[in-house]
This record gives sequence, structure tokens and C-alpha cells, in this order.
Amino acid sequence: MAPLSDDLGVVAGLSQVTRSYRADFPIFGREVNGRPLAYLDTAASAQKPRAVLDAMHEAYAYHYANVHRGVHTLGYEATAAFEAARGTVAHTINARSADEVVFVRGATEGINLLAASFGSRLVAGDAVVISELEHHANIVPWQMLREKCGIDLRIAPIGDDGALCLERFAALLTPGVRLVAVTHVSNVLGTVVPVSEVIRRAHACGSLVLIDGCQAIGHRSVDVRELDADFYVFSGHKAYGPTGIGVLWGKREILETLPPWQEGGEMIESVSFARTTFKKPTYRFEAGTPAIVEAIGLAAALEYVFAIGVPWIEAHERALTTYAIERLGRIDGVRVLPGGTGQAGILSFEMAGVHPHDIATVIDRSGVAVRAGHHCAQPLMSRLGVTATVRASVGLYTHEGDIDALADGLGCVREMFG
Ligand code: ALA
Repeated sequence: MAPLSDDLGVVAGLSQVTRSYRADFPIFGREVNGRPLAYLDTAASAQKPRAVLDAMHEAYAYHYANVHRGVHTLGYEATAAFEAARGTVAHTINARSADEVVFVRGATEGINLLAASFGSRLVAGDAVVISELEHHANIVPWQMLREKCGIDLRIAPIGDDGALCLERFAALLTPGVRLVAVTHVSNVLGTVVPVSEVIRRAHACGSLVLIDGCQAIGHRSVDVRELDADFYVFSGHKAYGPTGIGVLWGKREILETLPPWQEGGEMIESVSFARTTFKKPTYRFEAGTPAIVEAIGLAAALEYVFAIGVPWIEAHERALTTYAIERLGRIDGVRVLPGGTGQAGILSFEMAGVHPHDIATVIDRSGVAVRAGHHCAQPLMSRLGVTATVRASVGLYTHEGDIDALADGLGCVREMFG
């Protein structure tokens, strides 16, 4: 077969390197349904390298205790490791300091935190701008706020190319806009939103900006200072770390102005029956015992990713996506939905006459794991005129053989369904 594109050589070269990283992930040592695992569902949750599993095992086995409480040795060790993890997160996203990093359960909790805390300061007539690309987690909390206090929720549209329409977004930016909350990378289309430009325009109209970085962290460079965002959220499990941990980063001077959103132990300075005072950020936002070992695991994941090099990962994933788009485009009846220019390592497609769930079920028999459905983005599905898609998403461990397995599986689906 003729080479599919000039990128093919690049993909093959990169993939040889990837095979050595693949060995860092124990899951690739197993087969699925008698076939090598072609894991193309990294956007839902990434597989975990041994570095993360080992760091978490070590923490639980030898250094475990609650943090910020015990004066005993294990308490000190656990606290030191937990706070070192916060420092690692701060370093990898280039935060000014570790106290800008709030540990949360995941991006969903981070956005809910902001909707509760920052949102408590909003009044009827204030506006929040989101986009048509958003995951439900960055839609529903703002809708709830609209119901609660009458904010105006504005939706920035995308074009038929899957990209955010910057000019139509800018037209929504009137002086009443208090927050722009948009994704960095679409979890459905892989569209990369020009967040620097979004932030620049939002700031020019006096609005703060929240970026949902779930599909960006671990896949492309994120420098919160360079971006000049006000808040940035992400989940650990999509960045090769554990579930149950995520990050809300915020500019310190803004976090300091925000009220707590959950109350209890750890976030207080002093409590009497008459009055309670609260700690400074970030502890103000971390009531109760945190996910200690998960934070340590997240730091191990970020260290692992950064040791490989995020620019390499980004180039690798982009080359694989180009390869996948060309490979899938050759299959009868397959339509890949457009993901703007510079699409990240996520792509959605449909196959004429076959339901996405049937496709995902059939190719699973060949060890190919993809996600099918609305991807927690039903408004985007409506905009695209579909009810569901199949989504393939890659990671640093993906190689071209995984894409080939997907294409072969789709060939079987085509034969089966006619
Ligand atoms: N938000 C995750 C996804 O896009 C679960 O699949």
C-alpha cells in the first residue's frame, strides 16, 4: 500500500520510541479478547505507568498517615510528600507558588468549587460565557447558578470546521461578563481552543477566565503564567495519574478573595461556637482529609510525563491523529468530524448505517478500546447534528499499530453491517 502521508515516516519513527515507553505501562503486558490491547480511550482515562503505581504503593506501604495533623514521624513524612506533590504540580504548570494549587477530586469538582465560591458573588444580570465545545462539567454548574441567582449564560458558537468562532465569541463580551469558562481541548473533536487569545479578549472586557484543561494536561505544554488565565482545572486520571485527584489552579490574589465552598476540618484557622475564621488559600478550599496518596501519585505522573517531554508527546499525538484521519478516511462510509486546525490527539467519527455503540462493541472483540456515545457533551452533539459518535483518543503510549487495529476493526464492522 502506498504511504498515506508524508507524516507516516514520522509516525513510524516516533512509534518505535513509543514502544519503549509502552513497556512502562503494565497493562500493555496483557491481551484483551485474545489480542494485543489497542487502547484508544485515553481521553476518558489514561493508563498508569509503573512510576505512578510504585509511588502510590510506597506511600501507602511505608509512609502513610494523615497530613497536617500528626506530630509523629509518619505524619511528618506523609505531610512532606503531600506538600511536595503540590510543589511538583505548581512547578509543572509554572504556577507562581504552590499555594495557588488547590487539590480537588477532579476537574468536575474544581469547576463546582468555583461555581459555588466565585459564583456566590454573582448577581442577576452578571454573565458567564462558555462555548459549544464544553463537557457537561463546564455547562451544568453554570446552568445551576443561572437558576439560583439569574446569571446570564452565554454560549460561544463553533463553526462547521469544529473551531471556536473567535469573532462571535468576542461579540458576547460585554461589560457584564464576569467569567469566561472554556475548554483548552475539546474532549469530542480534539479542537484546540486558542486560549491565549480568548484570555486576552476576555481580560480586555474585564472578565476572569477559567480554562478546563482536562484534555490538555499531559498532552501539551501548559504554562499558566504565560497563558495569564485566572483559573485552570484538570483531572489527574487523564494525565496518567490516579482517579480521585485533580487540581484547581488559581491566581493567588484572586483565590484570596474567594469564600470557602465546603466547611469542616483543615480549612479553619479557629473555631468557637460564636465564630469561625478560615485559613488562607489553598487550605481554605480543602476541607476534610485530602486524597493524600492520590496527590503523590499525580505528582509521580507529572514527573514521568515531563521526563519524557511534553513537546515530544504533543508532536507524537498530532502525527498519530493525522495518520488516523487519513487511515479512517479511506474506509467506506466513515466520516471523521472536523476538529479545527492543529487538532489534538482526539478524533470523533461515525460510520453510515451503524450505531456507534455497535462499532465499539464489535471492535472490542479485536482488543480495540474506544468510547462511543455523547461523550458528556450533548449540546455539542446537537450542534453537530448527531446523537453519538465513536471517539478514538491517543496517549504517549499509542503507536501506529493501534490505529491500524482500529482501521482493521472498522473494516470488519463494514463487512458485518454491509
Ligand atoms: N470526560 C471523559 C471523556 O471525555 C470521561 O471521556
